[in-house]
Amino acid sequence: MMKRIVIASGKGGVGKSTAAVEIGKALAKTKRVLLIDCDLGINTLSILLERTDAVFSWADVAAGRCEGKEAVIRTEERLDLLPAPNSRPDRAERDIIAKAVSDLQADYDCMIFDAPAGLGEGLLRAAAGAELAVILATADDVSVRGAGKAAELLADNGLKDCRLLLNRYSVKAAKKGRLLTVDEAMERTFLRLLGVVPEDKTIGPAWEQKPNSPARQAFRRVADRLDGKNVPFLLSKIK
Ligand SMILES: Nc1ncnc2c1ncn2[C@@H]1O[C@H](COP(=O)(O)OP(=O)(O)OP(=O)(O)O)[C@@H](O)[C@H]1O
Ligand SMILES: [Mg+2]
Repeated sequence: MMKRIVIASGKGGVGKSTAAVEIGKALAKTKRVLLIDCDLGINTLSILLERTDAVFSWADVAAGRCEGKEAVIRTEERLDLLPAPNSRPDRAERDIIAKAVSDLQADYDCMIFDAPAGLGEGLLRAAAGAELAVILATADDVSVRGAGKAAELLADNGLKDCRLLLNRYSVKAAKKGRLLTVDEAMERTFLRLLGVVPEDKTIGPAWEQKPNSPARQAFRRVADRLDGKNVPFLLSKIK
C-alpha cells in the first residue's frame, strides 16, 4: 500500500484534522504512517497528538535547514508527524510540501496530508503530493457544496481520485430534514462514498477515552477501506 492521501474540504471545521488523526491511528496498527500538517500556524495535529515539542517543520526541510528524518517526530509506534511551520514559509511554491516529503517515501506505507480549510493555494499545496483525496463534509447545504467545489478544484489540478467522507452524521436529523441524506450528498457532489461517520460527543482531544466510540469505529472502517478491504457502511447502526 503506498498511499498518499490528502484530507480536504471546502468549508472549514468539518473534521479534517480529526479524521487525519483517527485514520492515521487506525492504519498505524499495521502500517507505517506519516501525518503531514499542512495548515500553517495552528499546529492542530501537534496539539491533537500531544506533541508540541517539534523543532523543525516541512518548511525547514524545504529550505534545506534539516533533513526530512530530523523534522519528523514519532507519536506512537508506526505513527509519525511532520509538523507545519508557525509562519508562512519564504518560498511557498505549490509543490513545497510534496518536495519536502519526497525523500521520506521509502520509510512509510501511507502519507496523510491534513489540508487547511478553503479552496485556495493552501489546499493545492497540501494536495500536490497526493494520489487520492478524501473530501470531508457535514451533511448540510454549505458544506456539501464546498465538498463539490473542492473536488472540482482538485480534479482541475490533476487529482481526479476523490471520495466523499460524511462526518457528524445523524440519521435522525436527516429524517427530520435538518441534514441532507447520504444519497442527496452523493448526488450533489458526484463523489463516490468512502464512509459515513456519526456525530459523537466523545470525539475530541481526549483521544484514548473511548476507543470504541461510534465515530472512532467508523473512522477505523474508513481506514480499512483505504487499505483495500471490503467493509460494509453500517448506516443502519447510525442513530
Ligand atoms: N464525528 C464527530 N462528532 C462530533 N464532533 C466532531 C466529529 N468530528 C469532529 N468533531 C469536532 O469538530 C471540531 C472540528 O474538527 P477539526 O478541527 O477536526 O475540523 P477541521 O476540518 O480540521 O477544521 P479546520 O478547517 O479549521 O482545519 C472539533 O471540535 C472536533 O472534535
Ligand atoms: Mg484542521
